[in-house]
Amino acid sequence: MKRIGMLTSGGDCQALNAAMRGVVKTIMNASDEVEIYGFLEGYKGLIYGNFRMLGHADFSGILTKGGTILGSSRTPFKLIREPDENGLDKVEAMKHNYYKLNLDCLVILGGNGTHKTANLLRKEGLNVVTLPKTIDNDLWGTDMTFGFQSAVDIATDAIDCIHTTAASHGRVFIVEVMGHKVGWLTLNAGMAGGADIILIPEIPYDIDKVVSAIEARHKRGSRFTILAVAEGAISKEDAALSKKELKEKQKNKVYPSVSYQVAAEIEERTGSEVRVTVPGHTQRGGSPCPYDRVFASRLGSEAGKLIMKGEYGFMVGYRNREIVKVPLEDVAGKLKYLSPDASIIQEAKMLGISFGD
Ligand code: F6P
Repeated sequence: MKRIGMLTSGGDCQALNAAMRGVVKTIMNASDEVEIYGFLEGYKGLIYGNFRMLGHADFSGILTKGGTILGSSRTPFKLIREPDENGLDKVEAMKHNYYKLNLDCLVILGGNGTHKTANLLRKEGLNVVTLPKTIDNDLWGTDMTFGFQSAVDIATDAIDCIHTTAASHGRVFIVEVMGHKVGWLTLNAGMAGGADIILIPEIPYDIDKVVSAIEARHKRGSRFTILAVAEGAISKEDAALSKKELKEKQKNKVYPSVSYQVAAEIEERTGSEVRVTVPGHTQRGGSPCPYDRVFASRLGSEAGKLIMKGEYGFMVGYRNREIVKVPLEDVAGKLKYLSPDASIIQEAKMLGISFGD
C-alpha cells in the first residue's frame, strides 16, 4: 500500500487540478493499493493535520477546472521556523503528521516559496516530489511552469481588447501584467498582443525613452500606443537604489502600482490622455488552456512514475523539450529571470518594440 499526501501551496494557477489528476491517475492505473491524503489549504493542512481522503471520483472531471480542489494559502518560508501564535513548531508539526499517517511521500505543487519549504522537509528526512506551478514562470530548473501559458492567453486577451478601443480613441493605454519580480508573462503577452512598449523588471526603464518611443509612433502617424507593463517593472533611478533605500521610498508611494506612476509621468510629459487597465487575478483564473492541460498532465504522470519507483527529492520539470527530474536542492531559493540578452528580447527590439532602455 502506498500512502501519498498531496498539497497545493502559494498563489493558485490554472492546471493545478490537471496536474494532481495526472499523478493520481497514473498511480491508480498501475495499482489499487494506494491511499491519497489531500491536505487542505497548502502547508497549513499539513501543519494542523487538516486533510481529506481522496478517491478516484475526486479526480474525475477536474482536468478542465481552474483553481485547486485542495485550496491553497501562503505560508511564508521566512516564518516557517517561527512558532505559530500558540507556540507550535510548524516544521515538527508537519513531520509529526507525516509520520502519524504513515505516509510514503508528499506531492507538493507550488512555486518559489513552496519549493524552499519542500526542500526543507526533504532535508528533514521526508520523501518529497514537487511539481512546478506558477503563472510567473520564474521557477529555476524548468523552462516552463504550468499556469504560465493560460495566463499568457488571458493577459493577451486583455491587450487585444484594449487594442480596438485604443485605436478608436487615439490614446495611450497601459495594461499591467502580473509576474511578480520577472517579466516572462509581460514579454510573452506583450508580444502576442502587439504591444508597442514592454516594460519588465529585468530591463529598468528610462521614462524619457518611453516618452520618445510614444512620440516617434505619433510622428509616424499612429494615433495610439499600447504599453504592457509588468507589475514588477522598475525605473532606472529606482533600480540604482539600495534595497533599503527602495523600501523607504516605497513607504511613501503615491501610486497604487508602477503602471499608474508611468501613466502620470507620460501624461505630464506629453499632455496625452493615458488609461490604465489591470487584469490582476483574472490572469490566474478560469480553465487551463489546452497546452497547460496536456503539460500539467504529463508532469503529473511523470511524478506518479517517480513515486512508483520510490525516487524522491525531485521537482518534475521541463528542459529543452524533455520532461526531467531536477534535484530539489538545486531548485530551492533561485529565481529564473529573463536575460536582457535573450534572443526573444533582441527579436522583439528588431520588431520595433521599445523596452524603455
Ligand atoms: O505568483 C503568482 C502571483 O499571481 C504573482 O504574479 C503576483 O505578484 C502574486 O502572485 C499576487 O499574490 P496574491 O494572490 O497574494 O495577491
